[in-house]
Formats: sequence, structure tokens, C-alpha cells
Amino acid sequence: MTEVLRVDPAEPDPKLIARAAECLRGGGLVAFPTETVYGLGADALNRQAIQRVFTAKERPANDPLIIHVAAFDDMVPLVADVPRAARELAARFWPGPLTMVLRRSSHVPDEVTAGLETVAIRVPSHPVARALLERAGIPVAAPSANLFSRPSPTRALHVLADLDGRIDIIVDGGPTNVGLESTVVALSSDPPAILRPGAISLDALRELLPSITAHDTAIRADVAVPSPGMLTKHYSPKTPLLLHEGNRDTALPLMKESARRLIERGHYVVLLAYGEDVDELRSLGVPIVELGHENNPATIAARLYSALRECDELGANVILVRSLTTVHPLSAAIQDRLRRAAHAQ
Ligand code: TXA
Ligand code: MG
Repeated sequence: MTEVLRVDPAEPDPKLIARAAECLRGGGLVAFPTETVYGLGADALNRQAIQRVFTAKERPANDPLIIHVAAFDDMVPLVADVPRAARELAARFWPGPLTMVLRRSSHVPDEVTAGLETVAIRVPSHPVARALLERAGIPVAAPSANLFSRPSPTRALHVLADLDGRIDIIVDGGPTNVGLESTVVALSSDPPAILRPGAISLDALRELLPSITAHDTAIRADVAVPSPGMLTKHYSPKTPLLLHEGNRDTALPLMKESARRLIERGHYVVLLAYGEDVDELRSLGVPIVELGHENNPATIAARLYSALRECDELGANVILVRSLTTVHPLSAAIQDRLRRAAHAQ
């Protein structure tokens, strides 16, 4: 049985936090909200607990986990050295949605890093995550709390849907704020590289790391195992998703045309649509799941994974969506997740 502990996201009940923290200290699995998505936490230094995480998620063992710590100083024993760039990034972006990949120390079990010589670490900012980490007093490895290959969970309900009965506790702190996973930056490579785009944008990182490279280069830079966040079968709905790329003037007519063709052929189509497009798409007479307005990428990021799950639940056999064209710090991350969802098929 998985126990659900409902807490106030801003001021979680210390008694409930203590219960969840004890569970983690005893080798249990606890899902908890972070500012990005829900994480599935386990004692990062307990090999058996880590193995349980991989089993619960059905995650391949070659996909390393992010270690969450309460404060910068808690990272020091986990890494071989602390480069200046790490201090600077932490001073600017921690606590927050930034993960740093650094050379690891011998304290970190191979199970966490999938045998890599590097370890991914972040200090989350969500008050529930912070309270839990402080109370537990241990480093907590936490991948997103979904089954491998399903969209990351942004609500406790999503965690239950994927992991009920497989984990000990879910701390329900309501919907997460950002809605997409943290930006992952490798400081272990030269030049530093973004391995996964997130809410901390390339431009923001460039202010501190002028030589930082994004994505494509990163795949080549990380020779041993490309950040498995780059595996295509990630973040995907069960239902095939067709992404229509390009600006609105090209992509929207294209999307309507593919919808008509698919409907004609008897497919059950669901449209994943920006608020601006809804009126124009209504005449197609198929269900529309709204993502929010294109000019407000923060709401789209917060809704995206939830919306993908809704599309699945409608029982459609194809989802149609178009690219986000707005220029915004979150645009790269949203576009990245749409592409992954589309390429998963
Ligand atoms: O926002 C987030 O980062 C969430 C919350 C719970 O903190 N966590 C999350 O974890 O998204 P997960 O396991 O779903 O994604 C971890 C990503 C994967 O892409 C993984 O490959 C990468 O971080 N990663 C972990 N350790 C790494 C390493 N040593 N080198 C390169 N990439 C690494
Ligand atoms: Mg994940």
C-alpha cells in the first residue's frame, strides 16, 4: 500500500514531513513535490533503496539519477572537487531548477551514477522538498516519479496512477510550479554543456558560462552514455503524437489538414491546442485539450505533462499538436519535450 500524506505546499506539517523523512532514512521510497516535477526519493547512499527505485519505475539501470541535497555544502562530500563555475552557478540559481553534473567522489554508489565517473546534483527550492531534505539529513536520489517512458508527474495523482502499490509514501503538495524537469548542465566537460533544457535557459547560463554549448554538441561531448534524458522514448504519452513544426501560419493549416485526413480514415483524433487556436479548431468536431495561451509559456510548461496524460485518457489513437513559436526562456524546454514526445513513436 502506498500512503498519501497531504500537506500545505507552503508550510508542510512538520509531523508529516518527519514521517516521510524517517521512511527515507529507513530505505523506503517517498515521492515528493519539487518546483519542477514530483521526484521519487530514496537514500542516495543506500544501494538497496536505489535498486528499489529502478524496479518501481521500470527504469533501465544505465540511466543515472539526480541527487537532491538541502544546501550547497551537502554536495561537497559527493563530488571529487568543486569547480569555481559550480560555486557561481549555485550562488545564482540554487535553490532552483538547475542540476549540475560534476566529477563524483567515491561515496556515491555506482547504482546512482550508472557507473559514470560523474554525478548529477541539485538543491530544489520547493518548500516541501526543502523541509524533507533538511529533516532527513541525507542526500536523496530522486528521478521523476513516473514509470519510465511516461510523462513526468506534475501532480500527486499522476504519481499514484503510475506507482501506486510500488512505493511507500507520496507527499501530496499539490501541483508543481514549473512543470518541466530541471536544466541539466555538465560542468565535467570542457566546454560546459546543457544536457537537458529546462527553466534555467541557455541565455541565463551564458551570463556565467560564456562558452556553454547546448544539446547537439552535448550529445557528442558526453561519449560514455549520452544523458539518458536524451533518449527519445522519454516524456511520451502512450498515444502517438504528431508535431507540426513551423510558425503558426504554416503549422496550423497543416495540423487542420492532417486532422481532416486522419478523421476521414476513421482515426480517433485529439487536438492538443494553444488557447489562440481553439476557435479555429473547433469546427473539426474532435476533442480539444487546451495547453494554455502561446503567449504565456509558463502556463504551457506547467500544463504540458498533465495535458499529455489527459489525451491518453481520452482513448484517442493519435494526438496532433503544433510547435511553440513564442520566444521566451521556457520555449527551448517546451519545444524539446514536444519533440521527444513526438519522436517516441
Ligand atoms: O527536475 C528534475 O530534475 C526532476 C526532479 C525530481 O528533481 N528529476 C528528474 O530526474 O528529472 P530524472 O531521473 O527523470 O532525470 C535525470 C536526468 C536524466 O536525463 C539523466 O540522464 C541525467 O539527469 N543525469 C543524471 N546523472 C547524470 C550524469 N552523471 N551525467 C549525465 N546526465 C545525468
Ligand atoms: Mg524522468
